[in-house]
Amino acid sequence: MNNMLMDPYGRVISSLRVSITQRCNLNCIYCHEEGEESNPKREVSLDTIVKTVTMATEFGVKKVKFSGGEPLMRNDFEDIIRALPDLKDISATTNGVLLSKRAASLAQSGLDRVNISLPSLNKENYGKITGSPHSLSKVLDGIDAAIDAGLAPIKLNMVLLKGINEFEIDDAINFADRYNGNVILQLIELMNFKNVSQYMVDIDSLEKTLESRATFIKERQMHRRKKYFIDGVEVELVRPIDNSSFCANCNRLRLTSTGKLKPCLMRNDNLIEIKDEATPDEIREMIKDAAKIREPYYKNNLKQIMCKI
Ligand code: 5AD
Repeated sequence: MNNMLMDPYGRVISSLRVSITQRCNLNCIYCHEEGEESNPKREVSLDTIVKTVTMATEFGVKKVKFSGGEPLMRNDFEDIIRALPDLKDISATTNGVLLSKRAASLAQSGLDRVNISLPSLNKENYGKITGSPHSLSKVLDGIDAAIDAGLAPIKLNMVLLKGINEFEIDDAINFADRYNGNVILQLIELMNFKNVSQYMVDIDSLEKTLESRATFIKERQMHRRKKYFIDGVEVELVRPIDNSSFCANCNRLRLTSTGKLKPCLMRNDNLIEIKDEATPDEIREMIKDAAKIREPYYKNNLKQIMCKI
């Protein structure tokens, strides 16, 4: 595609991550809040979301992921999805608490799949992490409803926390195994957004353990993520920190919950505001500008890595 969006580092933008609200019904100790500064005054409108996604598709963007806060806090989430242009992949990252009632309507509206945050299967630990122990059973119902609605493959996001859920990886693998390949486990390295460095797990040693247990290992191009096949379950390890290959392979542009284009999760000093009255032409230019100012946050060894891709 000749009008594709390429940043000055040669990275092509092929996906858009849209945060539709900062509201959330959980209070996770680790939450990075999509790297946004808290600003609950304004919530991006359906119209701006749809216009922005539509303009992005003109530049070859084919994948959109919705997040929050908790995207299901918005009652017009189905309407938003229904109003989108044709895309290859529409997904959402949800905490799953409200999913059991909405999975079918979301799927009917055009949602393809969901990632569900599930930091623990243990009620007490789940409560410690999210502030809401009683929500765990709702999330488990949400997973079943998502499977029934065909929102698969479902990815379970497990942010690893030392001293809390680090010994639950086997339980999570066994849990995923029950779903016959419809559930992928994503183990995620904790990013220290909220002064939570005491919970950081030693990912190098975890990687070695996964390597020794895997019957088969695959590497994804996106973010150079490794996939381990353990006891028949696909386990993906996401290492966002100090990982220049994570940045080198980043193909994302973000739209914040307050309607700003955000070129990087880690920065808030280069946002581009899309006002509700912005015309399609103006949005097109803003998307181009956002692509122009994109730069990898972690640049160590970047040259070597960029040469290989
Ligand atoms: N570190 C890593 N991942 C995080 N997420 C949220 N906060 C963090 C963090 N501090 C990810 C989780 C969650 C999704 C919404 O964002 O995967 O499921």
